[in-house]
Amino acid sequence: MSDQASRTITPAKKLKGFLHIIAGSMFSGKTEELMRRLRRAEYAKQNVITIKHLIDNRSHHQCILSHNGQERSAHPVNNTPQGIKSILDLAGPSVDVVGFDEVQFFSKELIPVIMTLIEQGKQIIVAGLDLDFRGEPFGIMPKLMALADKVTKLQAICHSCGNESHYSQRIINGKPAEYDDPIVLVGASESYESRCRSCFSINQKPNVLQSHL
Ligand code: TMP
Ligand code: MG
Ligand code: ZN
Repeated sequence: MSDQASRTITPAKKLKGFLHIIAGSMFSGKTEELMRRLRRAEYAKQNVITIKHLIDNRSHHQCILSHNGQERSAHPVNNTPQGIKSILDLAGPSVDVVGFDEVQFFSKELIPVIMTLIEQGKQIIVAGLDLDFRGEPFGIMPKLMALADKVTKLQAICHSCGNESHYSQRIINGKPAEYDDPIVLVGASESYESRCRSCFSINQKPNVLQSHL
């Protein structure tokens, strides 16, 4: 008998830590995809928790909400160093999978917390906007995408021309927002549309070389 055939089959090992980022514009289905993946883990009897930033007030504050109206219970977390550290207690030893929605709103202290959870062997699934309304990388998303094992970038459909799109167009009083407007403005279709590169526009945008410095 060959070495290969005589080797005893070991029981399935516990999963290694893993970071999966679901990135994309608004209306690309990020939260739906996050929910689908978390539900799939629950079917396999994995212990799942979901974390959201307290800022997202579009739904009951104990839930995440997708644009198609699906809800899922979530722990709202304050974006303070203590709030972010409390995620380590919420995701105790019995937790296998941690889902985060709207991760672009969290500050950089979340990164070492996510890396600790991965070292503990947990599966981390993160949904967030990769670009802000100005079309520039949003908060901690670029760093998380670089650290991830897997990145899924979802496209939406351009509300103007129907092509695939990856920008979130903010519209204020019927006009494109100004480049210097505040980055954070919670909302949905009353203030945002998804747009492709050709249809996306922003007022007072500095020259492209300056804006990416
Ligand atoms: P969504 O990814 O589920 O569509 O939610 C994105 C949230 O982020 C929504 O509340 C609008 C908000 N947002 C900002 O605060 N600033 C931005 O630049 C963009 C594009 C969205
Ligand atoms: Mg969403
Ligand atoms: Zn377009």
